[in-house]
Amino acid sequence: MTDAEKYTRTAVLLHWGIALFILVNVILGLGANYAPTSWQRPMIDLHKSIGITVLFLVFARIAWRLTHKPPTMPASYAPWERTLAHTVHYALYLLILALPITGWIHDSAWSAAAGHPLKLFWIIPWFRLGFITSLPAPTKHAFHIWFGAIHTYLGYVLYTLVAAHIAGALKHQLLDRRPELQRMWR
Ligand code: HEM
Repeated sequence: MTDAEKYTRTAVLLHWGIALFILVNVILGLGANYAPTSWQRPMIDLHKSIGITVLFLVFARIAWRLTHKPPTMPASYAPWERTLAHTVHYALYLLILALPITGWIHDSAWSAAAGHPLKLFWIIPWFRLGFITSLPAPTKHAFHIWFGAIHTYLGYVLYTLVAAHIAGALKHQLLDRRPELQRMWR
């Protein structure tokens, strides 16, 4: 496979870095509900730190995407496969942006936020969203509940789309016997 058929090193690093962070964050987000009480706060704090990091990486990834042309899809892909792949890719961009943002809003609207300052990886002080923290207490509480629910539901959409994304890649790799994973690897 030639370099022109592959994503660049930066794109590959961003793709797998974001995927790994999101996987860890899903495990932390879901796992916190079942973990011993003394683990829950550190797990959620780590979840928030990774989530804000993902937000930065997603901005970097979108900047890469807007300034680079991705390798063209192989000519053998059927039109419906191209359309489906593009749709899933754009939906995934939207989701990986929406998940950290809704989590951040949910956290900024938390009534106990002032007593639990946000610190990325327990080191870097981070801010909450001022237009949320300054809302009247009842509205803020409603935001906390709504955005917590939206954050959870977006998680369900993410599981579905990631499953479709992986199924598509495996179809090309195993059924069509095309080097698909190699396109996103260096
Ligand atoms: C990579 C981005 C993120 C992903 C994939 C993600 C995913 C998840 C998932 C799957 C849950 C579990 C929902 C459930 O209970 O079913 C969750 C919970 C939560 N997330 Fe996120 N999240 C992300 C970013 C963030 C960010 C940036 C923040 C805040 C700054 C945040 C704050 C929270 C909080 C407070 C909970 C509730 C934890 C609990 O009390 O059990 N998330 N997230």
